[in-house]
Amino acid sequence: MVQQLREAFTIYSLDCLPSVVIENQFRLLQQTISLKMFIRICIVIFGVLTVIRWALRKKWGSVDRTNEIRSKGKIVLITGANTGIGKATALEFAQRDANVILACRDLEKAKEAVSWIRQKTTLGQLICMELDLSSLQSVRTFCKEFKSKYDRLDILINNAGVQVPPEKTKRTADGFEMHFGVNHLGHFLLTNLLLEPLKASAPSRIVTVSSIAHSWGKIYFDDLNCEKRVGKGLVINTLYSDSKLANALFSKELSKRIQGTGIRTYALCPGGVVTDFGRNRTGPMTWVFMILGPILRYILKSPQEGAATTMYCALSKNLINESGEMYRDCRRWNQKSRIQLDDEDANRLWQESAKLVLITGANSGLGKEATFEMAKRGAKASRNLELTQSVVEQVLKMHPSSELTAMKLDLGSLESVREFAKEVQSKFDKIDILISNAGVYAPLGKQMKTAEGYEFNFGVTK
Ligand SMILES: NC(=O)c1ccc[n+]([C@@H]2O[C@H](COP(=O)([O-])OP(=O)(O)OC[C@H]3O[C@@H](n4cnc5c(N)ncnc54)[C@H](OP(=O)(O)O)[C@@H]3O)[C@@H](O)[C@H]2O)c1
Repeated sequence: MVQQLREAFTIYSLDCLPSVVIENQFRLLQQTISLKMFIRICIVIFGVLTVIRWALRKKWGSVDRTNEIRSKGKIVLITGANTGIGKATALEFAQRDANVILACRDLEKAKEAVSWIRQKTTLGQLICMELDLSSLQSVRTFCKEFKSKYDRLDILINNAGVQVPPEKTKRTADGFEMHFGVNHLGHFLLTNLLLEPLKASAPSRIVTVSSIAHSWGKIYFDDLNCEKRVGKGLVINTLYSDSKLANALFSKELSKRIQGTGIRTYALCPGGVVTDFGRNRTGPMTWVFMILGPILRYILKSPQEGAATTMYCALSKNLINESGEMYRDCRRWNQKSRIQLDDEDANRLWQESAKLVLITGANSGLGKEATFEMAKRGAKASRNLELTQSVVEQVLKMHPSSELTAMKLDLGSLESVREFAKEVQSKFDKIDILISNAGVYAPLGKQMKTAEGYEFNFGVTK
């Protein structure tokens, strides 16, 4: 019996537990209770769990497929679709004959997910595309490729998520704390860069997978990138909760900013779902989950059940006139059973996020703010010479150790672009991050042209 129990526990990754401890514990248990009593206790526990399971399943609700907007032929983009809830969501859309883009950081894993889905349905199109949300460059490259292939996007599902031990000081390619960078900033930039194709297929929807964990999250505006809090060996991973709160605030603020475009946005908690999400877990919580593992597997949602609220938000006709709300168990999430999302925080987080990820134009507005942020990280800023000089001085005053180089670039002249590129190549061996922010908005009616005679908006911005 001891051997069987040890094997059973090994299945739930207890292999790290010293075997002598297990043996001693179960010898003691054997002496204290008889086999008959042990079987009785097991039957009672199993009965109680079955009742809990039944009650939970009644509460979870399900998707009403007769009350869905049509998804045949729709273009649906799902981040993190190679496993867990994302993969189950991809299957659901394929079964509804949609064109599903699996946006994953590992294309091999994405292809395995496609094979898995293909064993279940031949419907729908499945397209794998590479997207690593821990690199803003990857997000930009992905969006560029997407836009070169598709001129519309019907449904964007911001599903991917990561949970890493808070004591690990792992950072994204751009130096952001991992939860904040992947779960929030990556999706923030992705969504912003895909607004045009989403507008083109309005009414369209954006669904962001948050979590009940957002309720114990907090946005530390003085430490957004978690410089002070990371690496402190926290027992509960509050950095993850903070990023899930950021997801919820993002969706709320987005709904305001896209009002009138025909795009709707929803955030949700999928519930407790049995996936590999805790694969990076360490510390005391590993023990808790190992011991409770078999029970949780029995009573929690399967990935298919976990995907139900995502499908509800993406397709239910009930939500046609709703936007910016949160959902759980295939229904609107009662405000009273979760924390109130603060409008001011949502707006401020948006602005701060825009500064961190967006888009150049370094002599004013967001670009100037971005320059400040990049300068703090030791980057070089290159922009229009005359206007930028004063910004360079301001940045140097605040961050004297920054290295900034002001360079002349006029996007309204291809000649200037060529000269600029030549100069950059002669001065620097490599560019780590290129932020293509600059843009113009030439007033309608004014026939403005670039140096080469192109229409001004087209010539400069594109
Ligand atoms: N499971 C739950 O109980 C639960 C509860 C509440 C909320 N959620 C949320 O549900 C969502 C899905 O989680 P899940 O349970 O299905 O977990 P999962 O099985 O671990 O799936 C997470 C997905 O995100 C992807 N991902 C991670 N980092 C990425 C990156 N840098 N770039 C692109 N993709 C990345 C993963 O790709 P790899 O396979 O390559 O790592 C994977 O495909 C997450 O947002 C999570 O916060 C889950």
